[in-house]
Amino acid sequence: ADRRAADLIIFGGTGDLSMRKLLPALYHCDRDGRLAEDTRIIAMSRGGLDDADFRGKVDAEVRPALGAAEGWDRFVNRLHHVSVDVGGPAEPAGWDALTSLLAGREDHDRVFYLASPPMTFGPFCHSAYEAGLVTPQSRVVLEKPLGRDLASAQAINDEVGAIFDESQIFRIDHYLGKETVQNLLVLRFANVFLEPIWNSLWIDHVQITAAETVGTPGRRGYYDHAGALRDMVQNHLLQLLCLVAMEPPSKNDREAVRDEKVKVLESLRPIVGSEVDRFTVRGQYTSGRLGDETVPGYLDEPDSTRPTAASHRVETFAAVRAEVKNWRWAGVPFYLRTGKRLPARQSEIVVQFKDVPHAIFAGATPNRLVLRLQPDEGIHLRLMAKEPGAGEVTLRPVPLSLSFADTFTTRVPDAYERLLTDVLAGNPTLFMRRDEVEAAWRWIDPIIAHWEGSGMSPEPYPAGTAGPAGAHELLARSDRTWHEEA
Ligand code: BG6
Repeated sequence: ADRRAADLIIFGGTGDLSMRKLLPALYHCDRDGRLAEDTRIIAMSRGGLDDADFRGKVDAEVRPALGAAEGWDRFVNRLHHVSVDVGGPAEPAGWDALTSLLAGREDHDRVFYLASPPMTFGPFCHSAYEAGLVTPQSRVVLEKPLGRDLASAQAINDEVGAIFDESQIFRIDHYLGKETVQNLLVLRFANVFLEPIWNSLWIDHVQITAAETVGTPGRRGYYDHAGALRDMVQNHLLQLLCLVAMEPPSKNDREAVRDEKVKVLESLRPIVGSEVDRFTVRGQYTSGRLGDETVPGYLDEPDSTRPTAASHRVETFAAVRAEVKNWRWAGVPFYLRTGKRLPARQSEIVVQFKDVPHAIFAGATPNRLVLRLQPDEGIHLRLMAKEPGAGEVTLRPVPLSLSFADTFTTRVPDAYERLLTDVLAGNPTLFMRRDEVEAAWRWIDPIIAHWEGSGMSPEPYPAGTAGPAGAHELLARSDRTWHEEA
């Protein structure tokens, strides 16, 4: 079923996401034989390009990063371009061009991939419907961010839901396509030894970190109104939390897995009012040294627009102490943290176990399981061992390590390859259901409301440092430390 011929229509098809992620991923899908012979990729943009221009652009901008690019000509021949301006003056002409391109292919799968800002999702679906292009075999893929709060997310879901059935709607969170993230489910549910200790009796706390070295050059227009909480926590970090905390689903099936994730999101203890000050931290980077480079602060990032009041208030770092209020996790904090311009790119989940119930040796430190998402994907378990020697017993923490790169020789695919393959096959397991997205916003909204209402600015932190002091204090208050500080 995954090799049915399809028309994949990318709205925003010449944009950054498409050029950097979607087209390279589709090339790899094609090279690996996962696109049917007759599958076509149709980019829609305002660019005024024809097929030849678009193919030339992809050849110039996408191909260089692909090495030998075996089978490139076959891939390029799948590409088409349609100029359209949803809601704009050029609109009718563009839809006519798309309609004639799709004529006679009503029985093919049809995927509308909206790699465009969320306010275009509703209008796009409406126009596609009016143009008669929405067939029973159609699906729509929505890129994040899905709105900027619960109300806007609901409005988008309603608008898209008026045209497409929920089973046709694929909401992307590209973290769910990452190899190591899928591996987390396999680790938990295809091994027997973790489950008995995967609860508040044995686990002290969990840390989920997505640290980036990149800043936000050229992204002010988006980022000023997003910030780290909306950009990373509402989606990526909460999805990771769900996978760590969820109950074992009865089968690896689209609804079973997502049902369990929703239950986790609905069990998150709300953080409201003055608690927000206690349980959350936000920061904004100022200029600093990152490696050998001096980099500008957020407000001085090169951009086509000048910083505004919103720029001063937006957070580029966020940390939250979350709690999952259910039987398994009562009393176990989940510390979430993400930031731009931190010293190293490091995404990981750290499960910190409790102390042994009764210590007969001095110097034991608790076990710790580190699931490294990127870079250097792997799993590391910290054990205590005895240092060799005939004298006094000396304990030392030693890692039991699995490096994916050393263990598997196959290429690690980009997250978008997995997700596009699943979209083409009609498998939504790794996509967010409406109730998941809305439950996540329901938890995020009061935090943002308090931040905005307080009139306070985020704590500054110099680029290249581990974020604002508050992040350290969030754990230090409970005698805990972030993984790399230990
Ligand atoms: C995106 C955010 O969703 O994820 C970006 O909008 C962020 O701000 C990116 O840089 C991180 O993704 P990855 O795959 O590089 O960890």
